[in-house]
Amino acid sequence: MSLDKDLINKLVKVTSRAAINCYQFLGKGNKKIADKAATDSMRNDLNNLEINGEVVIGEGELDEAPMLYIGEKLGKGKGPDIDIAVDPLEGTNFAAKNIPGAISVLAISEKGNLFNAPETYMNKIAVGKDVPYDATDLDYSIKKNISNIAESKNKNINELTVCILDRPRHKKIIEELKSLKVNLKLISDGDICGALLVTDKKYNIDLFLGIGGGPEGVISAAALDAYGCKFQGRFLFETDQDKGRAKKMGISDLNKKYELNEIVKGDSIFCATGITTTEMVAAVKKENTKFITETLVTHKESSIEIIKSEEPIA
Ligand code: FBP
Repeated sequence: MSLDKDLINKLVKVTSRAAINCYQFLGKGNKKIADKAATDSMRNDLNNLEINGEVVIGEGELDEAPMLYIGEKLGKGKGPDIDIAVDPLEGTNFAAKNIPGAISVLAISEKGNLFNAPETYMNKIAVGKDVPYDATDLDYSIKKNISNIAESKNKNINELTVCILDRPRHKKIIEELKSLKVNLKLISDGDICGALLVTDKKYNIDLFLGIGGGPEGVISAAALDAYGCKFQGRFLFETDQDKGRAKKMGISDLNKKYELNEIVKGDSIFCATGITTTEMVAAVKKENTKFITETLVTHKESSIEIIKSEEPIA
């Protein structure tokens, strides 16, 4: 097995150090600088690993002169062949404002097992493993999904809570959820964390849905897979440029609804380190001579854990 404990520990260091490098830019009102600090750190550390990696989900595509671009090769070129999905700073607004919700994230799989996604929006749905698989679907009406979840959990509809990005594009869905008397958790950004709220009862989220970034969808799917949760996504290719890119990446059915196991196949590792505080992991803490970080790590074949790390202040 190429995705072993040693690699997990090294990847935890990668997201931890990206988070630490971002720390100095928290609250400075400049999301680009914060993003660049996290990205440079992540690239540098991934390049020092004994892997033969390729970015399949990144910060953009090569022709846009991005930072960690799709197709970029990472690692020393020897070691296992690996697909890498990165989001060095997820929640750039949170970091720029120094408010809760910013994380540094990556997910990896063996070569060919992570969906190669263009940077477009994705319509997503996620529920916990306590909901029967057929009870929800991206193509069901809101009412049907909600009633089925309520029935399967033996709850009243007004006891359910739905997490969704607070965006004008979701106005109709939000209105409908309100009229059904469902409780809402409206997030201003950060839909990887939003999706992960279905993983545990303690977060009190029964359903995550709505349109957010496609790359964030693929990365969330890797973690949700380890938790045994359900996730479906459909990319939204709106412009001719989007459609052209998708075709170039080998996507022929532009309207396809993807099941989790079509997005992430086989074994995978997901690491998310808190930059500012989140519901899952604490913020980077500066203490005397060291930084302390918390990372949520899921390894599909072995474990889900929160790892605390320390790095000396340089
Ligand atoms: P950034 O970290 O790149 O700013 O993304 C934050 C985010 O909220 C994602 O979590 C989400 O998938 C996406 O932006 C939603 O996009 P938009 O802000 O265009 O609705």
